[in-house]
Amino acid sequence: MKNKQSHKKSKPARSRGPITIFCLAALSLWIWNLIPSIRPHANRPMPSDNELIEELRQMTYSPDELPNFSPDELDLARFGKQLFFDKRFSANGEVACASCHQPEKAFSDGLRFGQGLGQTVRRTPSIINSFASFWFFWDGRADSLASQALGPIEHPMEHGISRTHVVRLIREHYRKEYEANFGQFPQNLEAELPIEAKAKEGRYDTSAKMSAYTFASLDSFRIQDALLVKSSKLETSPAKLISRLSDFTPKTPDAWAEAWDQLSAEQQTSINTVFVNFGKAIAQFETGIIAVNSPFDDFAKKVIAGTPIDEALGEGFGKDELDGLKLFLGPGICTSCHMGPHFSDQQFHNIGLPLQSDLILDVQELCIDVGRSMGVLMVQDSPFNCKGGFINEKRESCLELPWLDSENLELVGAFKTPSLRNVAQRAPYTHDGRFAKIADILSHYNEMPEESGIGHREETLLPLKFNNDQLKRLELFLNSLSSPVTDLSEKAHTLSLR
Ligand code: HEC
Ligand code: HEC
Repeated sequence: MKNKQSHKKSKPARSRGPITIFCLAALSLWIWNLIPSIRPHANRPMPSDNELIEELRQMTYSPDELPNFSPDELDLARFGKQLFFDKRFSANGEVACASCHQPEKAFSDGLRFGQGLGQTVRRTPSIINSFASFWFFWDGRADSLASQALGPIEHPMEHGISRTHVVRLIREHYRKEYEANFGQFPQNLEAELPIEAKAKEGRYDTSAKMSAYTFASLDSFRIQDALLVKSSKLETSPAKLISRLSDFTPKTPDAWAEAWDQLSAEQQTSINTVFVNFGKAIAQFETGIIAVNSPFDDFAKKVIAGTPIDEALGEGFGKDELDGLKLFLGPGICTSCHMGPHFSDQQFHNIGLPLQSDLILDVQELCIDVGRSMGVLMVQDSPFNCKGGFINEKRESCLELPWLDSENLELVGAFKTPSLRNVAQRAPYTHDGRFAKIADILSHYNEMPEESGIGHREETLLPLKFNNDQLKRLELFLNSLSSPVTDLSEKAHTLSLR
């Protein structure tokens, strides 16, 4: 929010000058207090003890929110776990989900971009506590864990195979597990099947309004120029070119689409059903990957149970972490997005990251990453979304799905608010892995550039202007969110909170 004052010079009201100045000063002070978001963050107050206790209640999982596997779900999760680690589900026999989501790296990979058959264009997020997420992928193009799991399989840079290949592998190696969980393997898939077959997908075109806005919002004349030159070569408009570059969904090879068209409609439905069941098994396993016992949780539980704050401090969560927590809640206003026990509002925001010009110019053949504005088009169109009849995971995203507005300019350059659980164990950070350390992303929040590289940054984000001590304590607090990871498929079917 900017205070634009117009200074008209015509009739100076000399006698009322001091009163006017006084009134203006009083008004500014009033506005200053009324709208905390226009105050520099560092000047906002730290929460009082009572406010802190109230906040802590919102920031811990309650036992009834946590997954609790029935014996059937436990069986399914165990099947899913085998699939998650099985490298046969890839074109070169070397890529499993676990190649990028490695248990020893908090189910991420430590790389800037995921590395499967080739390189992905985004960073590998963790799957820890995904039971609590509404949307999946950085742009939220999946509204359930089961539908999410199908994406990497058919992505040429990840597993690089098709659903028909998955069906063949299940038929050959997992028939017993499949039938125990989903009933008889479809009879119409017993015959010889092509190795790879899937339907051709459509293109996702952002509207003229969205593309023109995206082009205009690019914070680099150099890139705008490059796009202008390229669009005139291709005899198209820059907006159309943007639209094309922002749909970087992998395209189905013609041979796969032709093989798919040879299959009967019943076979196609059966293949999709087995493929979705593959996703459901993996989703069940992922649901049981949980981290809820961090030093922060220990502290919060003690305080909520009535222990005085000072006495609740201990190893892993001491005075500095407490200060960091207060900075996170108060001056940092981090909980306006990283809220609740999952430290995410489950929404999408543009946090004002500058363009990585070299990156975009390098890969401009491939993509302009507009984030959520493309994710909305994709999730609404997906046959595997919660309205498609295949998957019925009841997440809140399903309620939002029909109401998503693909014309919302705020979504350009917006990405999913990541959970901050176990954040210290899974550098690098953000959707494009540009920050190697937590300290680096905190400096971004501390300085907060005026303009975003693409789209415009959330207005509530102002430079933190913290000093080094404060930044250090904020980081220590983030470190205190690391918890040992429990794999429910390995345990009896209840998880006990420590
Ligand atoms: C080549 C590395 C790679 C492989 C293999 C891979 N992933 Fe991912 N995973 C990623 C990347 C990169 C993203 C983010 C992509 C995006 O947002 O566009 C991601 C996103 C996810 C997410 C979304 C997390 C969230 O909170 O939004 C889940 C869940 C996930 N993968 C599970 C899986 C499963 C299940 C498999 C196997 C079927 C798998 N991944 C295979 C790299 C990989
Ligand atoms: C306006 C919403 C918003 C606010 C406020 C906000 N964040 Fe974020 N945060 C996000 C989003 C969205 C991302 C991912 C952005 C991206 O990848 O483009 C993110 C990313 C992060 C990450 C990287 C996590 C990862 O896995 O990559 C950290 C750490 C983080 N934020 C900490 C903080 C802290 C500390 C504060 C307060 C100073 C804060 N955030 C305030 C929305 C917000």
